[in-house]
Amino acid sequence: MKHQQLTPFPDGFLWGASTSAYQVEGAWNEGGKGPSVIDKASFGDKITDFTVTSDHYHRFKQDVALFAELGLKTYRFSIAWSRLFPQGSGELNAEGVAFYQQLIDELRHHNIEPLVTLYHFDLPWALQEKGGWSDPATIEAFVHFARTAFELYGDRVNYWLTINEQNMMILKGDVIGTLPPGTPDPQKTLYQQNHHMMLAQAKAMIACHEMLPQAKIGPAPNISCVYPASARPEDVLAANNFTSIRNWLYLDLACFGHYNAVAWSFMREKGYLPTITEQEMEILRQGKPDFIAFNYYASATVGADLPHSDGEEAGGKLLDQQMAGIDTSVYVGVGNRWLKKNQFNWYIDPVGFRITARQIYERYRLPLIVTENGLGAFDELTADNKIHDDYRIAYLRDHIEQLQLAISDGVELFGYCPWSAIDLVSTHQGIRKRYGFIYVNRDEHDLKDLARFKKKSFSWYQRVIQTNGQNLADGIDY
Ligand code: BG6
Repeated sequence: MKHQQLTPFPDGFLWGASTSAYQVEGAWNEGGKGPSVIDKASFGDKITDFTVTSDHYHRFKQDVALFAELGLKTYRFSIAWSRLFPQGSGELNAEGVAFYQQLIDELRHHNIEPLVTLYHFDLPWALQEKGGWSDPATIEAFVHFARTAFELYGDRVNYWLTINEQNMMILKGDVIGTLPPGTPDPQKTLYQQNHHMMLAQAKAMIACHEMLPQAKIGPAPNISCVYPASARPEDVLAANNFTSIRNWLYLDLACFGHYNAVAWSFMREKGYLPTITEQEMEILRQGKPDFIAFNYYASATVGADLPHSDGEEAGGKLLDQQMAGIDTSVYVGVGNRWLKKNQFNWYIDPVGFRITARQIYERYRLPLIVTENGLGAFDELTADNKIHDDYRIAYLRDHIEQLQLAISDGVELFGYCPWSAIDLVSTHQGIRKRYGFIYVNRDEHDLKDLARFKKKSFSWYQRVIQTNGQNLADGIDY
């Protein structure tokens, strides 16, 4: 659809930026925090671990002051579950409670709306040792953690997110999941874990509505539109299969309280069906979100069978949460010659962003907020402490343009939080894969002084926010 006139970003639009606890805080064993699955994972020698990251735990005041200067209306961060409950449940850690209290107060002091993710990949290790998400007791531990967070911070937090990228944890269980190596029947285990997470999420949404009637809560999956490799009906069907398995399985359960039919038949066919009860399905029907948050980096393209001509490796690297993967009886991830790639081989597809927003909104008719979108790149710090990240500005500009088109198409969108507010450690590609508006002066293994420097994209995004998305021009004094 071509618009003669674009609909402006609504008043009060939540221009924001995101981080997650384990990627930005550091202080992995300080302030009474218990270990999480991340602290026990090994990442090889080439990249850094998550012990110090950006040291936000000690520098949050300085960081929030910079976020305020950037003009953020909202800041999306996650609570490290094992900072509140070092053992996952049981005793509450007063120092952990105080840390998030101070962070939230600091944000409020600067008129920045906190947008809080309850769980972003960092399951407490104590729970993992007892079976993690395979153990139904983890559901109750999560609900207790969520209730505690609502009780502690509910008077100052209006927007909550349940679980970050649950679909990626299940689809890429080997990369960012909570599956111990050597688990027998890994796929079946993952889909059972998925069911447990869904229940945990539904119960948390019910609790939020009971305890905090003024607050809003929603899921935060990674949603990408899926293109067929060609107009061949079999390819279209494959794209349809993957859309259900990758996207709608998760959002249908969260929003409609039922299993997506195609995803269910996929699980049945493969022998992955979870054990479920009617009582659990009733809980899933009762737990309803107020909005949908979604993360978007790139679209996916799949075909019915192995590609012949475009030279792309089918499936993409397994070690990457953005790649479609491969299951020849259902879909085969293929390349897309219409799209460019970033330095890490991820596709760049701004138009796919508009398509994705439209697909989600049309299917669920709930307000949307983007909780991640951004460009990982090897930024260079110049001798005068500058970072000329014009490539990031171009990426963000192109995506924000498409967001405005989506709004003009009728999508109800109330916020945009690019990844990331400040440099942090990537899920599995170290600190040199940077995303932030603020540079953190450290390297993979040399922590240097961890000083903060504003990138060119900082000045640019500052103006975007000041003009409520009207001025997206590249040129900016820096
Ligand atoms: C999302 C996660 O998968 O993508 C983030 O929610 C992550 O935690 C982001 O950092 C970017 O991925 P990566 O692998 O480049 O860090």
